[in-house]
Amino acid sequence: MENLPTLIELIDQITQQFSESNLYFGHGTENAGDEAFFLVFQVCGLPFDTDEALWNQLVTPEKLQRIQQLAQQRIRQKIPLSYLLNEAWFSGLKFYVDQRVLVPRSPFAELIQMQFEPWVDSGKILRVLDLCTGSGCMAIATAYALPNVHIDAVDISKDALAVAKRNVTDHLLQDRIRLIESDVFSALSGQRYDLIISNPPYVDAADMSDLPAEYRHEPEIGLSSGSDGLDITKHILREAKHYLTPKGALLVEVGNSFPALEAQFPELPFTWIEISSGEDGIFLLYCKDLT
Ligand SMILES: C[S@@+](CC[C@H](N)C(=O)[O-])C[C@H]1O[C@@H](n2cnc3c(N)ncnc32)[C@H](O)[C@@H]1O
Repeated sequence: MENLPTLIELIDQITQQFSESNLYFGHGTENAGDEAFFLVFQVCGLPFDTDEALWNQLVTPEKLQRIQQLAQQRIRQKIPLSYLLNEAWFSGLKFYVDQRVLVPRSPFAELIQMQFEPWVDSGKILRVLDLCTGSGCMAIATAYALPNVHIDAVDISKDALAVAKRNVTDHLLQDRIRLIESDVFSALSGQRYDLIISNPPYVDAADMSDLPAEYRHEPEIGLSSGSDGLDITKHILREAKHYLTPKGALLVEVGNSFPALEAQFPELPFTWIEISSGEDGIFLLYCKDLT
């Protein structure tokens, strides 16, 4: 039998293989090393904060074979690692994912951990709407961050809602998160929310044709939104005022599509949220701005 590597040796080997394989990192990890670490520790069933003194333990033959097989699949098929492992992390929480939903990666994570302060008074929020919920990651993270709120989480995709249901159940949040099949607001007649959050699809047609191979494994309905990437966002802007309480707030991620949005809505006083990771592309508007 070949010599078995230690955890750290195996992470180094896979980091090198990933670095030489023209992979795109951006589905929950940012570089080859982080991705190799995620693969090795997840397959070995070890917590990510395992004491470094234990990183010299040998990997068993079965785990080694499994890790090598998944690494080859990642390299050859360019499948995001979270799909291969059926696991993603968002806002410090673990989620089940598969190809029915996007891999969670939104900069909303930081905003949620800040309880959306100082942009809203978190103590006054009772009802939240998560539009375009996908895996349910933002709704679930919000439920942890704001323990008194009730959340409606909406998606048009039955497939995505099936994944969200699994995650809501895994996190024991069935009493606080209601999953609703809806084309944006269509199934929410009469509902009012103190806060609406959304990470809708927002990739424009030009960017869609340029996306790295990894994105081809994600559901197109989660990425693409018309020629300028803003179809769903414009729908939200048109109707949000009917679903917000008078002091309610709307937070929507539009990524790179923000210049196109500002150009089309010069009358709206967008606040672009600054967070420590430096990513922008989430705007804030209050109900009064929309009326
Ligand atoms: C960018 S993904 C976001 C998922 C999740 N919120 C996250 O941050 O990982 C967008 C989601 O919007 C959903 N979606 C697309 N069009 C929609 C529509 N018209 N109404 C409701 N949801 C829609 C897709 O099914 C997809 O799950």
